[in-house]
Amino acid sequence: MHQELDDSFAFETRLLNEGAYFRLSASDPEALPIHLSTAHNVEDLAGLEKRYQEKGFCYNRNRNPNRAALIELMNYVEGGEDSIGCSSGMGAISTAIIANTKAGDHVLSDQTLYGETVEIFTDVLSKYGVETTFVDFTDLKAVKTAMRANTTMFYTETVSNPICLVPDLRALADMAHANGSILVVDNTFMTGALVKPLKLGADLVVNSLTKFASGHSDVVCGAVTGRADLIKKAHNLQVLLGSQTDPFSAWLTMRGMRTLELRIKKQCENAAALAHALKDNPRVLKVNHPSLKDHPQHELAKKMFNGCYGGMLSIELPDDRTKMNLFMRTLKLAHYAMTLGGYRTTLSYPVLSSHDSVPEEIRLKMGITNGTLRISVGIENTEDLVKDFTQALETAYV
Ligand SMILES: Cc1ncc(COP(=O)(O)O)c(C=O)c1O
Repeated sequence: MHQELDDSFAFETRLLNEGAYFRLSASDPEALPIHLSTAHNVEDLAGLEKRYQEKGFCYNRNRNPNRAALIELMNYVEGGEDSIGCSSGMGAISTAIIANTKAGDHVLSDQTLYGETVEIFTDVLSKYGVETTFVDFTDLKAVKTAMRANTTMFYTETVSNPICLVPDLRALADMAHANGSILVVDNTFMTGALVKPLKLGADLVVNSLTKFASGHSDVVCGAVTGRADLIKKAHNLQVLLGSQTDPFSAWLTMRGMRTLELRIKKQCENAAALAHALKDNPRVLKVNHPSLKDHPQHELAKKMFNGCYGGMLSIELPDDRTKMNLFMRTLKLAHYAMTLGGYRTTLSYPVLSSHDSVPEEIRLKMGITNGTLRISVGIENTEDLVKDFTQALETAYV
């Protein structure tokens, strides 16, 4: 491929070409290099045809080495046939849903989804003739009642945000399949390290890799994993929409994911310890975490998640904005951040963030009150974390 250029070529021409094909072998690097190249050269038209046949790298939006590496890792982590790497969790969710619905279809969705996913159904799909019904997916009778002959997709999250309800994925997959529908699961809160929805019967899994998966709050990325035929449709649409992840984000995400198992196990341990400590604290009105025995799906979660209940929990404090502000300011370790799943403990206030567009009446039905605070638990020392929450509660709620 490399053509030597001699002194008959002008300086500005050689400036563009020297070093373009670095000739020392750099194969088998210990760390995956970042492939920023927009395109990959081919020698001639025969080479181009061969590249297409081999599904090799031609143009970044279609395929890129870092995205391909992330796809391999996601196939393994979620146990799927194929994946696409996306610009964000929303890039993954929108691409997966739009690629696998058509005008006249009906979608059945859990009622407590991430707010912007709800907007994909209500503000985007509705414009193209796809109707969505929202029901409580922990109530299988309600799901059955809401099912229609034209229901082609069931959609849920593994653990609901922020109340941490746990739908029975295997039962939902069976119901969906009996109706000729597919089940799509957002596994962002748990990741394939804790539960593999595809193994429980789901057809597609979407992940915001921005959260627990990458784990360092420094990259926005997503993926869809699952049945090869459904992923093919998603990939074709992704090429048109341009919802692919860029090489650096794919690289950063993979770097984070190498330590996912270590981080998320510690996050689960810390979340369970914090949930139990807060439950015993009279200043806290309610604690929502599947590790608690009085959680409505504790037994199901125990079985489905193998005893790891996730790093997310929520608490209900008295409806008093001044005291809540003081509580937040007094905490030394947990900070307010509009993300989750990072290595540090972070807080979020659903009424002003994830659920700000949900009408109050519906929000209250979901169990989200003016006192609800969501906690994404990090990998701090367990006693330090519990001590910090306890001292802040004692200071704010005297
Ligand atoms: C459950 C869930 N899914 C999807 C998303 C969207 O992810 P991203 O911000 O990477 O688009 C979020 C964001 O918080 C989320 O919590």
